[in-house]
Amino acid sequence: QNEIYNAGLRGILPTWPVDFATLEKRAHEALGPGLTNYVAGGCGDEHTQNSNASAFHHWGMVPRMMVDCSVRDLSIELFGHTYPTPLFMAPIGLNGEATQDRHGDMAAARASALTGVPFCASTLANDPLEDVKAACGDTPAWFQLYTPKNKELATSLIRRAEAAGYKALVVTLDTWVTGWRPRDLNASNFPQLRGKVLQNYFTDPVFRSLLAKAPEEDSAAAIFTWAATFGQVLTWDDMAWFKSVTKLPIVLKGICHPDDARRAVDCGADAVYCSNHGGRQANGGIATIDLLEDVVKASGDTPVLFDSGIRSGSDAVKALAMGARAVGVGRPYTYGLALGGADGAAWVLRSILAEADLLMAVNGYPTLADVRAAGVRRITS
Ligand code: FNR
Repeated sequence: QNEIYNAGLRGILPTWPVDFATLEKRAHEALGPGLTNYVAGGCGDEHTQNSNASAFHHWGMVPRMMVDCSVRDLSIELFGHTYPTPLFMAPIGLNGEATQDRHGDMAAARASALTGVPFCASTLANDPLEDVKAACGDTPAWFQLYTPKNKELATSLIRRAEAAGYKALVVTLDTWVTGWRPRDLNASNFPQLRGKVLQNYFTDPVFRSLLAKAPEEDSAAAIFTWAATFGQVLTWDDMAWFKSVTKLPIVLKGICHPDDARRAVDCGADAVYCSNHGGRQANGGIATIDLLEDVVKASGDTPVLFDSGIRSGSDAVKALAMGARAVGVGRPYTYGLALGGADGAAWVLRSILAEADLLMAVNGYPTLADVRAAGVRRITS
């Protein structure tokens, strides 16, 4: 904030927006209609998606005075590591398409290296997970798994993630089939899945062994095989398989019901990830922030990660006040990628962090423990 103000006093204005509304508008212009529909779109009439963000407005924080907040500590402990901030970059498939060079996952990884904010790389990256991990530098990275129907392929993706040095396996539970997304369906975005997409999948040795011709020779057939292998239906019994296959901490993404949170903990999940996929999977639901406190309660000592609707630093602080250990930024950093690649994504993350830090300073919360102790109030009128 000081940097921005001081630069402004010298007549140097920020290159990219610091607020979500302007960021979104400019990113949509940069992405064009097809990709905008893909990134911005959600399920049905997008009521749940829109509620995810607007529901933050019916939660409020109460400031405390006469507290020395000249130094703030936003660091967190997770999976045996200390992270300098409580943010992470949520997994976004086809992030690669957000940048002109179609290597948006590499740019997101570089943003992670620049900011210390961990990147959760999606199975559906346009670059191999090994390259993405290397670009994260010293910042630990997490790998998100869309579990394929073929167990050998699932194991191969997990082994590659382990070998590359990822520090957690995030298993997404809510997307064994894609939700009803009118924007995608009406706009026929599927033709964009051509050429050098999904390289994480396409470089996998087990995936390649399923193809008659290499993806470089016949990308359409590779995309078809990818679609055919996508989407294993998971049940709680499958947790034993995940636990037997990897020693990586397992994070279960998509948990919204407290009973599911309890079940996840009982089955040995290392973290519960409360998310409704940004409203992309099911419409007619409840804003995730309205479900967070119950999920936190049900998870006991197991850390809870949160995403869906985070647009600002104050949103992040509210989720932390409700007990999230870490908060996932989704669409906003992809918009940063669209505007300025790695630097654009880093700018978005830093803006959210700067607002969160400043809010903690002004509200008298020097640490995240103070944020949690302060909590939030439901605004009813
Ligand atoms: C996603 N999300 C997602 N989740 C996941 O586990 N694997 C994935 O590959 C993707 N892909 C993806 C693509 C796009 C374009 C979006 C917008 C989202 C969901 C993501 O991790 C996160 O849950 C949401 O982005 C959170 O909602 P907001 O805050 O971005 O609205």
